[in-house]
Amino acid sequence: MNHFLDINKTDPADLRGMIDQARVMKDARKGLPKGTKDADQPLKDHIVALIFEKPSTRTRVSFDVGVRQMGGETLVLSGSEMQLGHGESIADTARVLSRYVDLIMIRTFEESALLELAEYADVPVINGLTNRSHPCQIMADILTYEEHNGPIAGKKVVWTGDGNNVCASFIHAAGQFGFDLTFTGPPNLDPEAVFIEEARAKGAKIEIERDAAKAVEGADLIVADTWVSMHDAQSTRERRHNQLRPYQVNDHLMAGAKDDALFMHCLPAHREEEVTNAVMDGPQSVIFDEAENRLHAQKAVMRWCLGV
Ligand code: CP
Ligand code: NVA
Repeated sequence: MNHFLDINKTDPADLRGMIDQARVMKDARKGLPKGTKDADQPLKDHIVALIFEKPSTRTRVSFDVGVRQMGGETLVLSGSEMQLGHGESIADTARVLSRYVDLIMIRTFEESALLELAEYADVPVINGLTNRSHPCQIMADILTYEEHNGPIAGKKVVWTGDGNNVCASFIHAAGQFGFDLTFTGPPNLDPEAVFIEEARAKGAKIEIERDAAKAVEGADLIVADTWVSMHDAQSTRERRHNQLRPYQVNDHLMAGAKDDALFMHCLPAHREEEVTNAVMDGPQSVIFDEAENRLHAQKAVMRWCLGV
């Protein structure tokens, strides 16, 4: 069963195949209205359930549009409106949904919920973000980097701020796609050591540098994300802001990277907090290409899951 649970759990050749297919599929529909069906209809007669236990704009819309373009149909479900949110087990939910739909995408809190869903489902399951990782985002980000500046292998990515779920998937990707990653942020917000060790064992150079200015030296890509994620307690907000302020991505920090360095943010962004307006809207920013590429990358992920 081809579940897409995490980048570090997916074969590197399969990941490369998905990125390349996404690019081909994107090129094939350049200039067409968004609702135009793709020429081949790989998801014809397929129904995809999209379950959200947290808010979403990009994930929700890009999956829905992607399924429609490929000829399938979607059910967009909110966790709180399902029996899942009122005591039904994840295992039973997985077994029931598998009788109705061909593919399940879930955005949830604990990773254990995703894993249990995948264990008990008879259809593929896609991770649409958990507290611990966000693999679909990084597939879009790899596609985006390579469209702009060529192969990501051997490049230096700098993650600024909180070593959160999106950072984790970037570290997974460093191991699988062969690039280096420097984390710059305060020690209590470091990424999980197990992810760092695993990526290093696969040959990626993963470094931690507390000084943001030093971290960005020689960087090909600088990435920021919100300082307070959806699963973080609001009571930590003030402390996080105080600790993370030195890691804001601004013109000064960007100037320390390579001249052709790109800036990425998965969005939603908090302008003038983790990143300034000048960087968000500046010439090195590719944030809206990332958002668009969620659509194309996930279409390839869904095809891989279903083998179509
Ligand atoms: N980047 C991302 O996953 O955005 P949404 O929360 O809007 O889905
Ligand atoms: N780290 C953020 C990403 C949102 C797409 C969060 O989990 O809230």
